[in-house]
Amino acid sequence: MIVDSKTDYMESIDIIKKYPKEKRFTLAILQDIQKQYGFIPKPVMFYISEYLNEPISSIYSMATFYKALSLKPKGKNIIKVCNGTACHIRGSNSILDELINILKINAGETTKDGLFSIEIVNCLGACALAPVMVINDKYYGSMTKEKIENIINNYRRQSYESNE
Ligand code: FES
Repeated sequence: MIVDSKTDYMESIDIIKKYPKEKRFTLAILQDIQKQYGFIPKPVMFYISEYLNEPISSIYSMATFYKALSLKPKGKNIIKVCNGTACHIRGSNSILDELINILKINAGETTKDGLFSIEIVNCLGACALAPVMVINDKYYGSMTKEKIENIINNYRRQSYESNE
């Protein structure tokens, strides 16, 4: 069994055992794990595989198939940049470029301090506000690249204050 150098996630076994030992519960277990850790740690996939008596490859393919599940840890703040048609036409690329420039990460990555992840998503259902960016559950409409630094700094500030 592969075990992460920092933790073996043994407490995840309690989550897994809440479900009957049936393959049809794989996705529900993975969703609970995602909720608990913010991603699906590798050791936990082995625990699920053992518990359900399913090959690790089938757990892995399910974990990679669903967009809501992630194999990499995500940041405390998830920034979603809409790249649907309306947002694209109104300049979502420049929003993304500015975020990449400020946070020094690409889409799909997380900052080293664990504060931010960037994701590119399809229409967020707020086309009238295009271009749209969402941080966690908060919508930022009519975005311009000039607004971004302030917004990011606010989240940084909040995070530092909550750690004091
Ligand atoms: S295209 Fe971005 S919200 Fe619809």
